Amino acid sequence: MSNSFQLTDVQCRFGDFVALELAELTIEAGENVALIGPSGSGKTTLLRLLNTTLRQDAGSFTVFGKNPDGLSPKELRAVRSMIATIPQHLGLVPNLSAVQNVILGRGGHRGVFRSIRDILFPGMEDKVAIHELLDRVGIEETLFSRVSALSGGQKQRVAIARALFQEPEALLADEPVSSVDPARARDTIRLFRELSDELGFTLCVSLHDVALAKEYFPRLIGLRAGKIVFDGAPEDLEGDVLKDLYQLSDEEMMRDA
Ligand SMILES: Nc1ncnc2c1ncn2[C@@H]1O[C@H](COP(=O)(O)OP(=O)(O)OP(=O)(O)O)[C@@H](O)[C@H]1O
Ligand SMILES: [Mg+2]
Repeated sequence: MSNSFQLTDVQCRFGDFVALELAELTIEAGENVALIGPSGSGKTTLLRLLNTTLRQDAGSFTVFGKNPDGLSPKELRAVRSMIATIPQHLGLVPNLSAVQNVILGRGGHRGVFRSIRDILFPGMEDKVAIHELLDRVGIEETLFSRVSALSGGQKQRVAIARALFQEPEALLADEPVSSVDPARARDTIRLFRELSDELGFTLCVSLHDVALAKEYFPRLIGLRAGKIVFDGAPEDLEGDVLKDLYQLSDEEMMRDA
């Protein structure tokens, strides 16, 4: 199992609208990739394809070497349980505690009844494991706090702990730092990268902040209007390439310089 995701001539449409059209994309196991590109360029659509909640309308796609269309429901659940997704708005349950939200991360592994029992009456083993996870992401004091009472940065970390509790082979995060200040955003992205180095999972994060993407990711994939217009190292993303990706005018480039 050398690659996590492989796409060939993939097209995703919503009605007649082509949201994604990719000739070739391979993400190797353990790679760290940032998805960048303007609003509406297809970043969320690509992440939904990667985590198998959306299917392509044409072309071929494999995840961990398997074609999701050829899998039984049980096999598909097993593949999905290897992919943790942090959606843009985190997907936490506000009225549950941090520990209960983290337990939800293993829902797919454990089946509905056991999950409900675990959420209502977390066992000692889970509590210890989750305490360690929250400690690792720097918010161990929030274990029994309701998520609705936490700050934006703390919520992000609960969402990261929940994803890690799933022990994923791949972690996908959609704009995980859009709702916090720049210093907090940097800390969170750094944490993602430390964890992916430590645990070895494949990391794919969509980011609006190009500077942050360039600082922390060895590979950037730039989408525009559903197509890959850049795929390479951060040092190669500058000048005209960057301008082209965001279709900036010269005046805007001057302002950002
Ligand atoms: N469920 C849907 N139905 C119809 N069109 C959709 C749907 N989801 C996405 N689209 C369209 O597909 C295109 C790509 O959307 P997508 O959400 O992937 O962009 P994005 O790069 O994630 O944007 P943003 O940076 O704003 O989150 C957009 O034009 C969007 O309007
Ligand atoms: Mg999006």
